[in-house]
Amino acid sequence: MSVLFLLLSLPLLLSPALSFPFGNTSYFIDCGGSTNTTDPFNTTWLSDRYFTGGATSVVSEPLHFLYPQEKNLRFFPLSSGKKNCYILPLPNGRYYFRTFTVYDNYDGKSNSPSFDASVEGTLVFSWRSPWPETLDRDGAYSDLFAFVKDGEADVCFYSIATDPPVIGSLEIRQIDPLSYDSSTIGDKFILVNYGRLSCGSNQWGPGFSNDTDDFGRTWQSDLEFRTPNTTKIINSISTRETITGTVQPPNYFPMKLYQTAVTGNGILEYYVSVDAKMDYLLWFHFAEIDSSVKQKAGRVFDVLVNEKNVERVDIFAEVGSFAAYSWSYTVHNLSSPVLTVKFVPVVGAPIVSGIEFYALVPNDLSTMPEQVVAMRALKESLRVPDRMGWNGDPCAPTSWDAWEGVTCHPNKDESALVISHIDLGSQGLKGNLSSNSLGGTLPSGLGQQSLVQLDLSNNQFVGPIPESLASATHLQLV
Ligand SMILES: *[C@@H]1O[C@H](CO)[C@@H](O)[C@H](O)[C@H]1NC(C)=O
Ligand SMILES: *[C@@H]1O[C@H](CO)[C@@H](O)[C@H](O)[C@H]1NC(C)=O
Ligand SMILES: *[C@@H]1O[C@H](CO)[C@@H](O)[C@H](O)[C@H]1NC(C)=O
Ligand SMILES: *[C@@H]1O[C@H](CO)[C@@H](O)[C@H](O)[C@H]1NC(C)=O
Ligand SMILES: *[C@@H]1O[C@H](CO)[C@@H](O)[C@H](O)[C@H]1NC(C)=O
Ligand SMILES: *[C@@H]1O[C@H](CO)[C@@H](O)[C@H](O)[C@H]1NC(C)=O
Ligand SMILES: *[C@@H]1O[C@H](CO)[C@@H](O)[C@H](O)[C@H]1NC(C)=O
Repeated sequence: MSVLFLLLSLPLLLSPALSFPFGNTSYFIDCGGSTNTTDPFNTTWLSDRYFTGGATSVVSEPLHFLYPQEKNLRFFPLSSGKKNCYILPLPNGRYYFRTFTVYDNYDGKSNSPSFDASVEGTLVFSWRSPWPETLDRDGAYSDLFAFVKDGEADVCFYSIATDPPVIGSLEIRQIDPLSYDSSTIGDKFILVNYGRLSCGSNQWGPGFSNDTDDFGRTWQSDLEFRTPNTTKIINSISTRETITGTVQPPNYFPMKLYQTAVTGNGILEYYVSVDAKMDYLLWFHFAEIDSSVKQKAGRVFDVLVNEKNVERVDIFAEVGSFAAYSWSYTVHNLSSPVLTVKFVPVVGAPIVSGIEFYALVPNDLSTMPEQVVAMRALKESLRVPDRMGWNGDPCAPTSWDAWEGVTCHPNKDESALVISHIDLGSQGLKGNLSSNSLGGTLPSGLGQQSLVQLDLSNNQFVGPIPESLASATHLQLV
């Protein structure tokens, strides 16, 4: 998956929390921060918490960054294990996740790290050294929408080489579960933002301006997504009139999005770099904000996605003027790593208020829930040291190594991952086998399901092996 570096270094977040029917749980974490702070947009950033390990630092040029949550950072050296996470308790639902990633030579090694990040056990971001200069120096925000079904949000980092993964801030905000067409698409995808454009406008939204967005979404300028020919003919227009049909469930698109637009005498064309292996959800936003267009068929244009004509748009015919008209389209089977969108005039000039591009990243398999519980108990009772990185899901994402010493494979119907071997021989572990939860939890969660070998040899355990464990029929104890 390609690296995302969408929004450059600027402030972050939040309007006063509203009480939405779908819930209002949110977290704003200043990773590496030691105090709570409130930013100029009235968002309170919590001092660092909910992490599994690592250490704190500060960027090398703090004056280059506006807010504490951008200057402070947390990094995860290998002594904390290969895999570390933020794990936040929250109600099940759908959430907007936003991270700020920054290096800025905080460690004085002039070597940006290579690492992966996952959300809910699915790989979503990959950062590879060397980072592009703007990312390296200014940092970048990345965001996505994901469902949480296990009572906790996990954002995990996995070290590809020896340089530690790093994070500047983490923000999680509850959104409407029905948003972005989930009734059709289902809840088995994470929507990773590849561009959320507000046409004819500067970057705005929580953390960047005082403008509100009920989901916490930030909107970036369409400028750098225009093709060179489009740049020559494009005009920005705006209005202060009220636009009807905005801030409606389930998407709560802000009115400001429709109060600016671009138009131009000719074809308006945008491109965005994508990962051709994935499908993309595109969301288009239109409003007729030119009062000289007074009737249907007064302005008509076609929308082409990768040269395929996918829709003829007559905004006035759909909703009249000064009203929001949104429409979405899913692109399958891309043949190249560039996605193009064209607005081709039929009557008059095309007009566009916004475009959103999301990769539909399928949820990876995760470890069977009872095995996760059993493995956490095992970690606790055997006092597995930090360096083994026993954090987050034991087996997921499937493209990462499982927890050290743990071997996993998909179950029979390929609906989940199960643990087949645990090899903790010679790890120098200490524990009391008779006083811990090993006896009670392990066999029910692991032993009778799939575990065929548990190697606890050459450690310093005391107490008898629990009977329940010893009697698990298929289990071979070493
Ligand atoms: C969040 O929602 C609950 C229930 O709707 C409400 O009682 C609470 O005041 C809300 N919190 C904030 C900060 O708005
Ligand atoms: C920050 O705020 C949280 C939540 O209000 C509170 O529990 C915590 O004690 C505060 N931490 C510091 C360091 O002030
Ligand atoms: C900031 O939040 C506090 C308490 O939540 C509130 O009293 C105050 O009016 C807010 N200020 C602004 C500028 O919104
Ligand atoms: C946002 O609003 C607050 C309160 O009105 C103000 O103090 C602050 O300067 C504003 N921030 C920006 C970036 O406009
Ligand atoms: C840009 O416009 C020029 C002149 O109209 C045309 O020849 C060229 O093919 C266009 N380029 C693209 C990429 O559409
Ligand atoms: C995408 O390609 C696959 C395999 O070539 C094909 O089965 C599927 O129908 C295609 N999907 C669409 C929407 O074209
Ligand atoms: C191990 O735990 C059992 C039960 O709690 C206790 O009786 C025993 O003294 C413990 N052994 C050691 C060496 O701590």
